[in-house]
Formats: sequence, structure tokens, C-alpha cells
Amino acid sequence: MKNIFIYLIIFSTCITSCTKKINPPTNLQCEHLDNPLGIDSPSPRLTWRIAQTEKAQTAYQIMVSTDSIKLANNKADVWDTGKIDADSCLVTYKGDSLKPFTKYYWKVTVWNEKDTQSKPSDITSFETGLISSSNWAGKWISDGQDVSYKPTFYFRKDVNLDKNKKIKSARAYITAAGLYELSINGLKVGDRMLDPMYTRFDKRNLYSTLDITSLLQNGANTFGVILGNGWYNHQSTAVWDFDKAHWRGRPKFLVNIRLNYEDGTSETIVSDETWKIHESPILFNSIYTAEHYDARKEIEGWNMPGLDTSEWLPAVIAQAPSPLIVSQQLYPIRVTERLEPTKIDKKNDTCYVFSFAKNIAGIIEIRVQGDKDTELRIKHSERLYPNGRADMSNIDVHYRPTDNSDPFQTDIFILKGGGIKETFSPRFNYKGFQYVEVTSSKPIDLSKESITALELHSDVPQIGSIKSSNPTLDKIWEATNNSYLSNLFGYPTDCPQREKNGWTGDSHIAIETGLYSYDAITIYEKWMNDFKDEQKPNGVLPSIVPTHGWGYDWGNGPDWTSAVAIIPWEVYLFYGDSHLLHSMYGNIKRYVDHIASISHHGTTDWGLGDWVPVKTVSNKELTSSLYYYKDVTILAHAAKMFGRKHDYEHYTRLAKKISNAINNKFLNTETGIYCSGSQTELAAPLYWGVVPEELKSKVAENLYKKVEEDNFHIDTGILGAKALLHALSENGYADAAYTIAVQETYPSWGWWIVNGATTLYENWNIDAENDISMNHIMFGDINAWMYKALGGLFPDENKAGFKHIQLRPNFVKGLDQFEAKHTSPYGEIVSSWTRRTDKQIIYHVVIPANTSATLHLPENIEGDKTMELSAGTYNLELREIKR
Ligand code: BGC
Repeated sequence: MKNIFIYLIIFSTCITSCTKKINPPTNLQCEHLDNPLGIDSPSPRLTWRIAQTEKAQTAYQIMVSTDSIKLANNKADVWDTGKIDADSCLVTYKGDSLKPFTKYYWKVTVWNEKDTQSKPSDITSFETGLISSSNWAGKWISDGQDVSYKPTFYFRKDVNLDKNKKIKSARAYITAAGLYELSINGLKVGDRMLDPMYTRFDKRNLYSTLDITSLLQNGANTFGVILGNGWYNHQSTAVWDFDKAHWRGRPKFLVNIRLNYEDGTSETIVSDETWKIHESPILFNSIYTAEHYDARKEIEGWNMPGLDTSEWLPAVIAQAPSPLIVSQQLYPIRVTERLEPTKIDKKNDTCYVFSFAKNIAGIIEIRVQGDKDTELRIKHSERLYPNGRADMSNIDVHYRPTDNSDPFQTDIFILKGGGIKETFSPRFNYKGFQYVEVTSSKPIDLSKESITALELHSDVPQIGSIKSSNPTLDKIWEATNNSYLSNLFGYPTDCPQREKNGWTGDSHIAIETGLYSYDAITIYEKWMNDFKDEQKPNGVLPSIVPTHGWGYDWGNGPDWTSAVAIIPWEVYLFYGDSHLLHSMYGNIKRYVDHIASISHHGTTDWGLGDWVPVKTVSNKELTSSLYYYKDVTILAHAAKMFGRKHDYEHYTRLAKKISNAINNKFLNTETGIYCSGSQTELAAPLYWGVVPEELKSKVAENLYKKVEEDNFHIDTGILGAKALLHALSENGYADAAYTIAVQETYPSWGWWIVNGATTLYENWNIDAENDISMNHIMFGDINAWMYKALGGLFPDENKAGFKHIQLRPNFVKGLDQFEAKHTSPYGEIVSSWTRRTDKQIIYHVVIPANTSATLHLPENIEGDKTMELSAGTYNLELREIKR
């Protein structure tokens, strides 16, 4: 009887405490990725989100084990933090040393503000890679040809797997100088394209970790590899001389295929001279121009067991391209969308032009039946001549061909015939295009079904959105995203057609636009390592990264190459993760110290200035000095965060010296005008924060008068376009900023849209003769402006990662409805408003769990101007004061 009583008590307490538990944390990630493979960091970052039903986290407990069943029973043999009082949802692993090739399972439990415990999260995992380069086995191999030899080779390896052993898991660890495509038993492994990402090949090579468990079979297996040149063996010629890169070499790869058996043993198959090679049908491949493919040279079953390989040659042992092989931890490039043509224009039976709904970065897939030896030329363009044929004159301007064997953005496909449908899609190239013109050496029958366009880019998840009652604004938002993504290929580029270069300026201008809408931290963390590889001992950085040497003498002043400071800073603001800023601290410091060493009076003229302006040229020394100032303030802030007192004091003084020097030299304190008072010259000092407090309103008023004079149209280049709208909306002129942002007449973003743009252009003038790529991101800060000025979503530098949100919406005249959403590390923030009547506005806000916000209402709203908001959902009825 007594026992039953005790049992009942235990049972009932269990029910009360179990039911009392709050919802579990979700979105567990390691190194900002879901269940990543190939982690090499000794202290990876672990992150999660608490349930949106809660107000705040007050404590957490992380448990890590190599055994998921033990972990489910709360046995954490690798790391158990115990209950830690903290509101942070980002913790660096500090358990036992991580072993290579090991899967670690982890879960997290949190406590809310009432100290109520959550249910544990689902168990998730990360798996280590090689960790140390000494764990690599095997040899780098290539086909042994000269760098100028055009055809590429098949590589294959036959392996017989023990039928009595059961495979538990299998991984391919593969790195290449150039690009690789790995297949097993005839099937491509995974869906990555153009892998691995481009790096400074003589300094750092990236390896990918691929799960190949399901592709292996008992007995005979065949591994196949095809290599592409990528940026490693640039056979095309253009003004940047990548064909003369000191790193240039014949593409090569190193693979370790590790099989883990159920019985606990493992085996590694490696690349070495036992692999066999044979020329492939890929006659030529260039990351820059195109791919040429001769289907007559296909070998059926080249990557399948059972092929007679007596004619194949042994692979050739090659030198490692660099001493460093690093795990690639980022969202890979993938096909993200397949687009069917919207139109086919048959010119005659040897010429067809296909149109697509939007301008993209990518490739085509063509399916065609024709006579043997028929040669198809597949041209990719962003626009058409009046006669409807492909026009590449806006994008082939920097191309310097030495003969006619490598036409720009033109694939060549030679058919093998035989009455079958043949398919071709390039593996080692991409292009920027909206139109595809196919010409053939013999009559051919093509239909709309013959071609699909495959959109490619780093496949970063979308985490933000904008919706409004103004279709032009929404279309600008979409076009900006299209250009952002078209320029994300493991590093941010300027354009996907003419250059594909990692222009530093374009990237820092677009960083906020990118981070509001996409979870792109992993791409920038990779790219910042490229900066480390490129920095000279004196701190100088190039204007394009990666580079083989081009860009150290041109374009690398602070207005472009401040990317080294601005990008880690913005990543910190958006993610609340200081890892990148910390790791780049020394690089930023060296860059800043270099500028200081050549700018004794506090200003600098080093830079390109306000690039591609509408009509007015602005003072270059002013804009360059503002970027120099920004770098120094970032450094001072970082120094404070990282406890470097001396640096903090030094760079705080230097920042003051620079702002004083800028104001002394360029500001007329009587009139409140900088230099000659162009839009950029007034907006940029306001935006970058050097205008003395007491003169701010005067400078802002002058800026307003200036844009009024220009009939509320933009008159800036790319540096001014970054500053103008913010400078207006943050200084009381949000209506004017909005009017400029949604103009539909020249010059404006809307002018591009009404003329059919689906991406942003390089030039305000759509008929410009130069600098008129139709897919540049450098005028793309407008999306960040929408999130900030209309949605009011600002990160708070003192509580980064939107731990605290500075909400400053503007209910601008002429817009009835607006909604901005951004999924921060803590969850989705929503800021949306609807104008009900002339004066009434309904403002809907969602503040994620574990965060807070300060709402700052604009002057034209009745009542209190600031409000503190804790996590939760709010619907506020606001009234506008009559204007
Ligand atoms: C690129 C730009 C880049 C600029 C630097 C151009 O060729 O396409 O986007 O920033 O050069 O001046």
C-alpha cells in the first residue's frame, strides 16, 4: 500500500513537471550549417533558437556525445556544459578534443525567464573531417598534359568491395585545383556544381566532404572524376591576364574515399597512379567563356564497372598546388531554378533564338536530335539586336581572344547522331544571360522544349522578404535579389558575364542587402580567408579577391577595399557572431595602418571615387576619406570588444583626427555644404557619420534642396547611391527618399524596371555605350534601405544579431502598405504597416523570443515617440499628425 502511494506521488510529480516543460529549442546549427560534414575547426560554433512562445532564455545546457542513443538517455560523454546562466544562443564548443572522421551528436535544453526548463531539442549532429593535413592519404593526380592542351580527361578507379562486410557510412573527401565532378557507378555524387570554390590556389585549397553511402554496392564499384580548369588553368584571354597567373597549372585532384564498416573497421581508397585516364568528350572548358563538347567522343560506361580499360593510361602524379587543404564549409553552388523558354524565335532552320523570363547567371541544358557531326553554337546574351539576334556587345568588351577558337559565352556541341535525342549541359562554366541563340551547321528542328535555362549560384537560404502596395518597389526588390544571387559563387562577384571578378567595392556596397534577405555568412567567412591570402606584408590588399596579382595597383583604395573591415563588421551586426571580426582584426589593422602611413594629414585621395555617376562627378578625396574613417571606427569598436585598450584609444583618436580633417578640408560651416554640394558630397558625410551634430540638419536640408533641384531623381555613382536614401530618411526626409526610390523616369531604379529589367544594371543610362552590364549588384543597397527606412529594422551594435532591435519605420507618403520580414538568429522579425484612412496607420510588429526592441516613431506620428517592446506580437494603432 505504502509503495503504491510513493509510486503515485512520483507519477504525479512527473506529470506536473513534464507538462510544465516549455517547448524545445529549434534550428540547431553547427558553424551556421545544418548537420554539417567535414568540420575541421577545433571549436565549432553551435547555435539554436528558443521557442517563439517564450519571452527569454536565462540558461542553457548543451550535451554532446558520439553515441546518439546514449545522448537520448542524457549521457554526454564528450561535453556536458551543465546549466549555464546565459541568454546567448551561440556557444563555442569547448569539450574534449574533437577526433577526425567522427560524428558528434548534440542537443540543447534551455530555461526561460521563469526558470522553467524546456524539453530537450531534437538531437542533431556535426561530423568532423580530416582535421589535420597529416590525415590525408594518397596523391594529387592529373592527366599530365600541358596547360595549353584543351581537351579534358576522364579519370577512373575500379574497386572490389568485400561482399561480407556491410558499409555503415562512406564519405568522399575531395579537393581539386580547378573543378571536379565525381561520380560513382555512373551517377554524379550529390548536386554541387562548380566545386570546390575559387581560392588563391597557391595558398589554400578547399576540400568537400560528400556522403556517398547510398551510391556504393557490393562487389565491383567504379569511381569517376572529370576535371575542369576553373580559375586554375585559365585558357581564355582577357584584360586581367588570368592566363598568366603564377599559380596556373593543369587541373588536378586528391580524393580520399573512406568506407566505415558496421564491424567498426574502415578502409580508405585514394587517388594515385593506379587511377586510369582517357580523353573525354569535353574538348574545351573555360570558367570565363564556355564549354565545347563532342558527343562523338563519348565512352559509354566510362564511370561504370565492367569497362575494358586496356587502352586507358595511368594517371600522372602531380605536385600539391599549396601546402594548405581546408574544409569547405558553406552553402555550395547548385542549380536553384530551371526555367523554360518564354518564347522561341525561329529565324530559319539553322538559327533559333530563345527568350527567358529573367536575366540569370547559369547554364543551359539542350536536348536535340540531329545528324552526326552537326555542330551547334549556343550563344548567351543579355539583350537582342533589333533583328532579334543575340547581342553580346555590352559584355564582351574586356575579352581579348587570340583566335576564333574560343567564342565568348558560346558553348559548342557536336552531335554523335544515330537517331537519338542527345543532351548537353556544361559542367565547368557559367554565363550571364536572358537570351540563347542556337545556330547549327546543318538544319535542325528545335522547339521550346529543346532548351532549359538552369539558374546557378551559391545556394544560400532566403531569410528576408519585402512586400508592398507599390509594384515598382517590389520589382526593384526582386531585381536586386536576382543580381545579388547572380553574383554569389562562393565569393561575391561584380557581374556573371563580363568579369566574374570578386570586386571588393561591389561586395561591401551590397553586404546589407545580402544579409537582410539571405543567410550568407558562410560565403563571406570563406571570402575573408581569401583576403588573408592576398594581403601583402605592408597591409595592401588588391581590388579583386581572389587574384593572381591583378588589382594591387589599381582600384584598391579604401572606397573599394574597405570590404576587409565592413564585411566582418556587418556580419557581426547581423549574426551577433564576432568570430569573423576577431579573425580579421589583424588584417583590418594592417590595412588601416597602411592608409595612415600614406595619409599624414588625416585624409586620403586613394581610390576610384563615385563610380559610374549619372552626371555629376563628386570629390574623390572626400569619399575615400569617409571609407578610411569607417574602417578606423570599426577597428576602434572591435578593439574595445576584444579588450585591446591601447588599440581602442589609438584608433578612437585616429577616427577623430580623420573626421576633423574631412570637415576642415571639405565642409563650409557657414553654408553646411561639403565640396561643391553634389548629392554624394552631402549624403556620404551624413551617412558615414562625420557631420558635426549641430550642422546635421543644415547639411540634410541642403541635401533635400539638392534632390528637389534634381526633381527627386538620383544623381550619384555607386558610393552616393549607398548613402543617398539613408541620409535623407535618417534625417527627416523619408518621403523624399521614397519618391527617389520609386521614380520610373530616368535616372532611377524604376526606369530600369519599366524598361523590362529583371536585374540591376551597371549604368543608370540603359543606352550607355560603356559600363553597361545588365547584371551588376553595385547599385543594390536599395534593398537594405527598404528594410531599414520603410520597415525600420536596424541591428543594434551594442546588442548585435538583432538581440536588441532599433525599430525606426517611416510611414511614407504615397505608400499604403508595406511589410518587411527578416529571420534573425533569434527568429523572424516582422514589421508591417497599413494605412487605413488618411491619418490612421495600423502597425504590426513581431519581436522574436529572447530579444527586445526600441520603437522610434517618426515626428509625424501623434503621441509618445519611443516605446520599449519585449518579445511578442503587437498591433498598434497610430495616427499621423496632419502634414
Ligand atoms: C567592375 C565594377 C568594379 C569596377 C571597379 C568594373 O569593371 O565591373 O563592378 O567595381 O570595375 O572600378
